[in-house]
Amino acid sequence: MGEAILAGLLHAQVFTPAGVHVTVRRPEPAERLRQTYGIAAGHDNAAACADADVILVAVKPQFMVELLDDDRMRAATSGKLVISIAAGVRLATLGAWLPEAKLIRAMPNTPCLVSQGMTVLAPGPRSGVEELAIARKIFAAVGRVIELEDKHMDAVTSLNGSGPAFAYVMLEALADGGVMMGLRRDVALEIAAQVFLGAATMVLDTKLHPAALKDQVTTPAGSTIAGLLTMEDGRIRSVLARTIQEAARVAASLGGPSKPEPHG
Ligand SMILES: NC(=O)c1ccc[n+]([C@@H]2O[C@H](COP(=O)([O-])OP(=O)(O)OC[C@H]3O[C@@H](n4cnc5c(N)ncnc54)[C@H](OP(=O)(O)O)[C@@H]3O)[C@@H](O)[C@H]2O)c1
Repeated sequence: MGEAILAGLLHAQVFTPAGVHVTVRRPEPAERLRQTYGIAAGHDNAAACADADVILVAVKPQFMVELLDDDRMRAATSGKLVISIAAGVRLATLGAWLPEAKLIRAMPNTPCLVSQGMTVLAPGPRSGVEELAIARKIFAAVGRVIELEDKHMDAVTSLNGSGPAFAYVMLEALADGGVMMGLRRDVALEIAAQVFLGAATMVLDTKLHPAALKDQVTTPAGSTIAGLLTMEDGRIRSVLARTIQEAARVAASLGGPSKPEPHG
């Protein structure tokens, strides 16, 4: 996720390669990042933060405590904007580790890789208009950005962070139906993906309620209403809504210290 944001930032020229210092744990990815992006890449987090104006933290949630609850990091981040994208790690927890930092919690998603991401920002009490503007600029380089309060971030982690995985399952299932009815797999997938893209763009651009858009394509006694009723028979709405509820419940526990390593 960190690399997706980095690539978007460099592509959109929000920063130049000379203005970026990345840290990772192992030497191999550091070398690859240096070669690929022409940026500085090393292992000393506190030294990199001491030189930086803006710090983006993109490690797994369970590694956050050992990284941030540290005197060198407290000193290196004092008075600076620190943006965390870790799922489940609340602003209050971040604030306890880094009391002098200007904190913003962000929840992006993987479509940031293709500049179609969605990021929700939750500013901490020490972050003001200036810090939010910087964070907006960073994540606008890889997609849409909105702001919400921290209390909504578990729901956002589910709907936005995990949402693409849920959409892939729906997309694949629709393509399966096309294959069942004789379409080639690659053709069915292309059609299904473009249908998702088109439908999503209709919702965003027209600002119409999805139910109104659905009604526009539902001819009396036609094929669309036949398919829609089959979806309702399968209780698809409650299954999808409960999917978001369950993922949000798990997201709320991700920042804890002794969980098994979560995989997204
Ligand atoms: N994946 C998603 O869809 C998604 C969406 C929203 C938010 N997030 C959040 O994004 C964060 C990263 O997730 P990810 O899937 O991108 O994880 P990832 O692929 O494991 O990447 C984590 C990176 O952090 C580096 N790292 C780990 N410990 C470090 C340390 N102590 N010092 C310096 N670098 C360290 C790793 O370096 P090495 O490669 O050297 O180990 C690796 O480059 C998570 O907190 C997650 O909750 C993910």
